[in-house]
Amino acid sequence: MKDKKFSDGFLWGGAMAANQCEGAYDIDGKGMSIMDIMTVGNSSKRRRATPEIDPQEYYPNHRGIDFYHKYKDDIKLLKEMGLKCFRTSIAWTRIFPKGDEASPNEKGLAFYDELIDTLLANNIKPVITISHYEMPLYLVEKYGGWKNKKLIDFYLNYCRVLFKRYSGKVKYWMTFNEINSTWFVPAISGVKISNDDPKYLQVKCQTMHNLFVASARAVQMGHEINSNNQIGCMVLTTVGYPKTTNPKDALAADDYITRGTLAFTDVHVRGHYPSFVKRMVQKNHLELDITDEELLDIQTGVVDYIGLSYYSSSVVSSEIDKNADSSIGGNFSMGLKNPYLKANEWGWQSDPDGFRLILRWLGQRYEIPLFVVENGYGHEDEVLSGHIIHDDYRIDYLRKHVNALAEAINEDGVDIIGYTPWGCIDLISASTGEMKKRYGMVYVDLDNTGKGTLSRYKKDSFYWYQKVIESNGGEL
Ligand code: BG6
Repeated sequence: MKDKKFSDGFLWGGAMAANQCEGAYDIDGKGMSIMDIMTVGNSSKRRRATPEIDPQEYYPNHRGIDFYHKYKDDIKLLKEMGLKCFRTSIAWTRIFPKGDEASPNEKGLAFYDELIDTLLANNIKPVITISHYEMPLYLVEKYGGWKNKKLIDFYLNYCRVLFKRYSGKVKYWMTFNEINSTWFVPAISGVKISNDDPKYLQVKCQTMHNLFVASARAVQMGHEINSNNQIGCMVLTTVGYPKTTNPKDALAADDYITRGTLAFTDVHVRGHYPSFVKRMVQKNHLELDITDEELLDIQTGVVDYIGLSYYSSSVVSSEIDKNADSSIGGNFSMGLKNPYLKANEWGWQSDPDGFRLILRWLGQRYEIPLFVVENGYGHEDEVLSGHIIHDDYRIDYLRKHVNALAEAINEDGVDIIGYTPWGCIDLISASTGEMKKRYGMVYVDLDNTGKGTLSRYKKDSFYWYQKVIESNGGEL
């Protein structure tokens, strides 16, 4: 199909995150982040955070794919693929190793100066996530993570340095990667609390509020420093289909999207808490530290666009699942299988129609631009002789999802400004720490135990995506 589906200037790109690709975890003054103490896991063994580095364990983020030293060659490959933009994050601990210092680490900034300049010299627009699951460990140990309001100012100090330093160079920013994931896994924001703690709900709500205030103030600050800045939120999205035609399942499915995703975009985009969140706080007699000034900041610091990740969908049942988190009123039943969909080895179900649904829901509810900053298919790859990688499963997934994107734009009228598939170069998996859960169009020779030459090879999907970009989505 050669008809035009995407606007000129559509931001075709790729996405990575500092902690999953850079490596160099302890050089040039970098401090320890929460990801630096995470061991490797796999689909049946969870990653663990160790109190300190244990020489008997393997910590895959320490070396990542050594992007820190290889980024110049990697950017050449991204350029060859035709990328218009590249999303990565800045490691907070390179700039503020502990997180609460008054002045930044110049060596850390020097790395990002060069990285950003190299991207710009190659006509690739940098898209920057300010915090992507890599907060300073010290802020967890000393302050208890984001449940502590002091973190708001530490984060804003960090933001100020970035907005000033990269003013006019970086236009697209996102404040927190997948902000709603903290609701499900508070440890991502450095908050240690077990879900049977009587204060669990209160602590989670306070943590979310602190993140929202920090994000809204960062948006205001970024606009004051450079009015051309486009500053977005970033949410994890997924669809939950009702398990049966029982209306109760439909209600449960509505809870799933509303309470799992839209509650968060509502605050970022509308600038206030939705009524069901206020009700939940009242009903549970939560004592939250929320000031009028903070609420005003949330109202003023609304985002310019919604950044989102989408990988797969799920099925939701109204029957109470004892293992699910139903604390916010919904009967969440994550991970039920859908007989109509195929899943990868990790149980992530490929569902391009679910993607289109999400784009419609967000587009229609908010009528502001969307930026799809993560999408992809984790799959093991086989390298044939001559470093050939036939990853037709990945091409098939991406083709169907780009097609859904085109339909959302052309049929549903959703305003979508860009698409940056996840892990355009293979990197460390966030959930399992494995290398074999690969998303890239560029293969990295590294295995789950850290062995490999780190050489890069182009997969079939590299050439496929190159054509997609060249034809501006005309050739899928
Ligand atoms: C997103 C995260 O949730 O999913 C990324 O923002 C992550 O950091 C990606 O890598 C894919 O998940 P995983 O666990 O397969 O790496």
